[in-house]
Amino acid sequence: MKIFRKIFIKMFTCFLFSCFILLASSILSGCQSTERQRIVRIGHNQSTSHPIHIALTAFKDYINETVGDRYVVEVYPSELLGSQTDMVQLTQTGAIDYCVASNAILETFSKNYEIFNLPYLFASADAYHHVMDDSDITGPIFRSTQKAGFTAVTWLDAGTRNFYTVNRPITSPADLKGLKIRVQQSPTNIEMMRLLGGSATPMGFGDVYTALQSNIIDGAENNEMALTDNGHGDVCKYYSYDMHQMVPDILIGNNVFIEEMTEEDRAVFEAGYQLVNRVEREEWEKAVENAREKAATKQNVQFLYPDQTPFVEACAPLHQSVLQKNPAIQPIYDAIQEYNTHYPAVIE
Ligand code: GCU
Repeated sequence: MKIFRKIFIKMFTCFLFSCFILLASSILSGCQSTERQRIVRIGHNQSTSHPIHIALTAFKDYINETVGDRYVVEVYPSELLGSQTDMVQLTQTGAIDYCVASNAILETFSKNYEIFNLPYLFASADAYHHVMDDSDITGPIFRSTQKAGFTAVTWLDAGTRNFYTVNRPITSPADLKGLKIRVQQSPTNIEMMRLLGGSATPMGFGDVYTALQSNIIDGAENNEMALTDNGHGDVCKYYSYDMHQMVPDILIGNNVFIEEMTEEDRAVFEAGYQLVNRVEREEWEKAVENAREKAATKQNVQFLYPDQTPFVEACAPLHQSVLQKNPAIQPIYDAIQEYNTHYPAVIE
């Protein structure tokens, strides 16, 4: 009996030992496979139903399908990783790999970005799209932050920016007098507001809703999505199509991450950036239509169509002052004027 007990105990110990080995090796092999996969973190400040998130999700799926053995993409929406300025800094240092930043805030990282923040720069949405698709124009700007640690890899449509206010409808620049209007944190935007007669209040996007609700500001300026997706239309009931800016969003990536990729992987990622651009622009058209409809019917936002001439005239000196201070962007400015001639304003 003793011998049988000994044999049984030996067999049981062997069984336990092999179970342990199997478990350990399966844990280890799991670890090895995640070690082989590089996690790619991308941050942005929009909601999960926004075109930017939809486009980045398409990117994530594409990367996971094509080079998923080596990369796992994670997309962090809604300022989960901080404000846009925070995220640009995280991308600079490589703490994250990519983020979406408005062209407006990139101006403080490279003066070349000033050009796309100029009010009334583009004669039409067609001119804007053609300029942004012309890599001879965007290339030197997109690469101008390489020393700062990041590079722009594609642009995203963010529509047209217009003023919207809580109480006073804006029908001419005179209506902005005495109003505190939130602008993005860019010197060009602050100067634009000064020329238009309003009082510029720069702050991050995530703080605007509370600032509107608590009367810290009287209004803001943005595309129609801000009314619905960010709830600004719950507070602001007047949206005036003065059409002062078409400011693109820019997907930027950490230089070290991009440069350390193999040529093949970089080509895969480059195709992915084009996918982000394509999907976002397709989604954008639909999203703006839906936002207008929702703002008008559910939030009772009134859309106003003021004469743009006095706004354009008030902002005109800004073009000359920016070009004088930064003559290097003059050739880009001239190339944009060529597109404006080919794609003039559409008179409806
Ligand atoms: C738009 C733009 C964002 C930007 C925001 C803002 O929503 O797409 O990138 O942060 O405007 O006004 O700050």
